[in-house]
Amino acid sequence: MDSASKTPRPTLRQKVAIAGGAALLLLTLLGLDLLQTRTATEVQARKNTTALAFEKAPELWLAHPRETSEFERALQAREVAAVGVSGSVVLYTDRAGHQFSTRLIDCGLGCRNEIGPRLAALSVAQGFALTDIDVDSRTAGQKLSHSLDKAVGVVAPLVSLVLVVGVLLYFQMRGSLGTRTKLAVKPDMRFDGVIGADEAKKALKRVAAFMKDPKQYAAVGAKAPRGVLLDGPPGTGKTLLAKALAGECGANFISVDGSYFSSMFYGAGIGKVKELFKRAREAAPCIIFIDEIDGIGKRSNGKEAGSGGGEQEQNRIINRLLVEMDGFSALENVVVIGATNHVDNVDEAMRRPGRFDLIVRTALPTPPEREQLFSLYLGQVKAAEGMDLPSIARTATGMSPADIANCVNRAAAYAAEAGEALVSQERVYQSLETHQLGGEVSNTKNLITAETLRR
Ligand SMILES: Nc1ncnc2c1ncn2[C@@H]1O[C@H](COP(=O)(O)OP(=O)(O)OP(=O)(O)O)[C@@H](O)[C@H]1O
Ligand SMILES: [Mg+2]
Repeated sequence: MDSASKTPRPTLRQKVAIAGGAALLLLTLLGLDLLQTRTATEVQARKNTTALAFEKAPELWLAHPRETSEFERALQAREVAAVGVSGSVVLYTDRAGHQFSTRLIDCGLGCRNEIGPRLAALSVAQGFALTDIDVDSRTAGQKLSHSLDKAVGVVAPLVSLVLVVGVLLYFQMRGSLGTRTKLAVKPDMRFDGVIGADEAKKALKRVAAFMKDPKQYAAVGAKAPRGVLLDGPPGTGKTLLAKALAGECGANFISVDGSYFSSMFYGAGIGKVKELFKRAREAAPCIIFIDEIDGIGKRSNGKEAGSGGGEQEQNRIINRLLVEMDGFSALENVVVIGATNHVDNVDEAMRRPGRFDLIVRTALPTPPEREQLFSLYLGQVKAAEGMDLPSIARTATGMSPADIANCVNRAAAYAAEAGEALVSQERVYQSLETHQLGGEVSNTKNLITAETLRR
């Protein structure tokens, strides 16, 4: 079972593609970095020395904030030696060499700009250096938190996108979006547990013999069975027979249904077929059970009206399935069992030799078989002694084994509701009656008595 749940390892081509992608990403990042450094040097080279002095260590000025009025006073007192303006931030050095900073009052549109011409005139009149600078007045903490914010803003949507797509693809490939797929299990069912269906059992016993000792058959050149199609009405034991086959030869059992292969992504269905057969090979001896195999549909030649991508995908899925089945070698010991209620709806190509060439039919049980079924299922509940099983079986005409199992179960429920210790024959008739009237809830229930039913 462990080997069946292994995830596939990347092929060489995938590895090369991943490495190539990573290298390309690295080169792009390096190139971007180089470009940025170069631009910065070029800009730096065009600046005057006063500006460079301010920009080299603006903290020295920013560490000594002064009020705007103090700056005005210093200007009027002719104490200012150099001024650098970066937006609303002003760094200035007085004639004694003290470094200060201030902020120009933001009093609406245009207000801030008035200081510009005034400063320019003053600098000419007083002979101090005035320059435009580019400094960041935020503290180191502010800068860090800002860049973090920016990074998160860029990365978060990317990460969520990658996550969502990844998770969707992962589940699609594994097919576990629904509960339709089960990993390999070893059923403990046996043919003895299946009542009737003698023809089916005979055919499947031959398959079992083969699976138990494939070498012996291969030695005489006998062809391995590839696929068996179980055809019959609902509840006649198709699933049960497939499980019994696996149980008899101690094989693993992988169960999917026809709709498992249809997928929301084009092409993913083919992947699912491949994956299924790969797992089965790893888990050999193994039975692949495809319930409602007609759910895969029939191949079409695409000429009918309204045939779209969906049908093409269906054709591809069926073709892939056939290719996988053709590819078995005798010793691989994987057998595919399909079940259907409508064998006519199964694509004809699937029924050709070497594929699902063995068609096994299950039918509704005969009266003696119904008797056995009642005896089997009544044996699983606390039933009263001495029931008239032949008469009960006669009453149950047309019921499938599943119906009978269900009927006995309901009889037991009636007995429990009435507080009785054993399931009596009357409860069985009551339950049969409910079945024949088409289910629970009815006030016509008493119209059919046990007497009428017996006749
Ligand atoms: N031949 C049988 N002998 C004993 N019990 C049976 C037999 N056939 C069916 N049952 C009972 O009915 C239940 C349903 O049977 P199963 O699932 O095998 O039917 P099915 O043919 O696969 O039906 P469907 O077409 O609806 O899938 C089984 O779990 C079992 O309890
Ligand atoms: Mg079934």
